[in-house]
Amino acid sequence: MTDKLTIIRPDDWHLHLRDGDMLTGILPETTRDFGRAIIMPNLVPPVVTAKDAAAYRDRIAAATPTGSNFKPLMTLYLTDNSDPNDIAAAYNDGLISAVKLYPAGATTNSESGVTSIQQVMPILEKMAEIGCPMCVHGEVTDADVDIFDREAVFIDTILDPLRRALPELKIISEHITTKDGVDYVASADKNLAATITTHHLIINRNHLLVGGIKPHYYCLPIAKRELHRLALRAAATSGDPRYFLGTDSAPHTDPNKESACGCAGVFSATNTLSCLAHVFEQENALDKLEQFASLSGPAYYGLPTNTDTVTLTKESTPVDVPNRIETAAGPVTVFDPGFPLYWRVS
Ligand code: DOR
Ligand code: ZN
Repeated sequence: MTDKLTIIRPDDWHLHLRDGDMLTGILPETTRDFGRAIIMPNLVPPVVTAKDAAAYRDRIAAATPTGSNFKPLMTLYLTDNSDPNDIAAAYNDGLISAVKLYPAGATTNSESGVTSIQQVMPILEKMAEIGCPMCVHGEVTDADVDIFDREAVFIDTILDPLRRALPELKIISEHITTKDGVDYVASADKNLAATITTHHLIINRNHLLVGGIKPHYYCLPIAKRELHRLALRAAATSGDPRYFLGTDSAPHTDPNKESACGCAGVFSATNTLSCLAHVFEQENALDKLEQFASLSGPAYYGLPTNTDTVTLTKESTPVDVPNRIETAAGPVTVFDPGFPLYWRVS
């Protein structure tokens, strides 16, 4: 039985760091284990221009623990009125690694998102031309589409038509949660990959709703039924380079989660690698963990892999994971996988 595993240092290809006291409080949870992360731009106000991204990058650098080599990979938040020249300059200067498309209203702080693909087509064409990847929150927002169907409907009505219209646009289907998402990525011949979160490999909608509502399992896209979780696990552990880790670790303070109208987001930065090792071991695929967490992401983004390693050791007794991280913005509950974790990261 493998009880020690050394892999190239992982990256997180989808991460929310927030700002101010929250940023300072939770950033060490990511920098401890990860080399780089794609930083989501859904601040209030959002990171829309190159100038916004440079300033946010500097705030992240200032909050990065001394001695850490963590590199934030910045993104811009696409709006109907984004300036294609500003985006192109930011990408060509190496300031940003991708642009994020949120359908307006799809999730936390997405009010300024895109109202229709037609509206931003000239910008997407420019991105395709210069090779700038698009990260997309793939859910429709129509009030009459059931929340559990929003990803599948997005694929059929928005993503597939967009890919046919603009096959050269390099797309990352963020945090896929369905078998439909897995199958759609598998069917693509080029320019499509997907991130998968830690929590969607572990919870289904029963975890969220059975025996009382569990606000700390509420996230968007919402966890789906078991068959979808199993499809995600098969994809993540397959070694197929089109599926890679994006934790979508998204901190909200406990009062904002444990509320009559709780925020969407699971905070998993602290224990993600231990959780993943557990999942990959359950699937007899520990040998595929490095591909998922450390190799496939940089390959798709056209970046080198990290040069150092992390070692995961399986302990005989459960490792200590804090229940919550205390920040100056308030307490943030850490994802509870629902089982003890034995894999320790060093
Ligand atoms: O659960 C989520 N939380 N999903 C998102 O898409 C946004 C994120 C957040 O920013 O809190
Ligand atoms: Zn997210």
